[in-house]
Amino acid sequence: MSHERGEKITLSVIKADIGSLAGHHKVHPDTMLASTRVLAEAKKNGLLIDYYVTAVGDDLQLIMTHKKGVNNKEVHETAWNAFEEAAKVAKELGLYAAGQDLLSNSFSGNIRGMGPGVAEMEFNERPAEPVVVFMADKTEPGAFNLPLYKIFADPFNTAGLVIDPRMHNGFIFTVLDVYEGKALDLSTPNDLYDLLALIGTPSRYVIKYVHRKDGEIASTISSERLSLIAGKYIGKDDPVMIVRAQSGFPALGEILEPFSFPHLVEGWMRGSHAGPLMPVGIKDAKMTRFDGPPRVAALGFNIKNGNLVGPSDLFDDVAFDETRRQAQIIAEYMRRHGPFMPHRLGPEDMEYTTLPDVLKKLENKFRPFELGYKPIIKHELEEIK
Ligand code: F6R
Ligand code: MG
Ligand code: MG
Repeated sequence: MSHERGEKITLSVIKADIGSLAGHHKVHPDTMLASTRVLAEAKKNGLLIDYYVTAVGDDLQLIMTHKKGVNNKEVHETAWNAFEEAAKVAKELGLYAAGQDLLSNSFSGNIRGMGPGVAEMEFNERPAEPVVVFMADKTEPGAFNLPLYKIFADPFNTAGLVIDPRMHNGFIFTVLDVYEGKALDLSTPNDLYDLLALIGTPSRYVIKYVHRKDGEIASTISSERLSLIAGKYIGKDDPVMIVRAQSGFPALGEILEPFSFPHLVEGWMRGSHAGPLMPVGIKDAKMTRFDGPPRVAALGFNIKNGNLVGPSDLFDDVAFDETRRQAQIIAEYMRRHGPFMPHRLGPEDMEYTTLPDVLKKLENKFRPFELGYKPIIKHELEEIK
């Protein structure tokens, strides 16, 4: 019941690839319409306060506000129904990979672990509550590690860490080990080097939350990894992230600043290549060159009494033109490597794609070869210890 939770507002961003136009390229507007109808009904019934439907690449994005808290069954079920309705339309239109991310046939209480990506946060609305919703395609949740580090821990990015007394104490990062299902909290600036030791491996260690030291939630990130849910490669885990802005949180410009560097992320073609993350406006959030390059869009809202005011399409701006040009140059450079690492990802990440099936065929074609030395491999070293 909403009144039991006081006046706290929950912002839920839930996304799924339910099929797209002309390949893994772009969401079809009719599928957006189908999901919008479901959310409109939920708003009419009072479950949702407000919603905004958008798309980035082949991912349909549901941005919703309500008073039900995070992981709420009714809200998740509504999102699931919205995706199912959209997938029905995708099937009717013969869109590609219709229903791709809906890994289950029926909803079972919580959308997490069922395919869609989820980022949610609950907070007491400030008199002015600016938030940014980031949505990336053709990459994975760890793609936000580097920008989050810069936003909340790097004084060369975020001037407020040095000059705003409300931010000067630093932040607490919750880091997930997505392979083992473990989490730990690291407090910056004290634990800065430990934090970097983990999050520099973004395919395994993913920043899940950032809190201010007074306990206020500052950021939340989706952490679902589809291949680890389905046990095989069925699409990359294109992530979403929410960041609160201003007055005690980083300024809007400090939140956007890290994206002026098109850092290399994992994903791109077949989820198996490293490429630059290119910040784009929604109109350019469609995947073309080599199914990419990986892109990120950002929508800025103000939340007032739970209503979503806005959005502003934040990367649809000339200030990011030079970043996009750099991203093109990097994309060109990386592409010239073809199937060679480090453009193509290493064996660990390839385990979660379809390459092992190809390599299996070669296994019994290998014959013994006298190297002239006995290679010491890692697991033997561990036995010696
Ligand atoms: C990556 C992605 C695409 C597909 C590629 C092959 O996340 O969605 O790059 O992996 O287009 O798709 P299939 O195997 O469906 O032909
Ligand atoms: Mg797709
Ligand atoms: Mg996608």
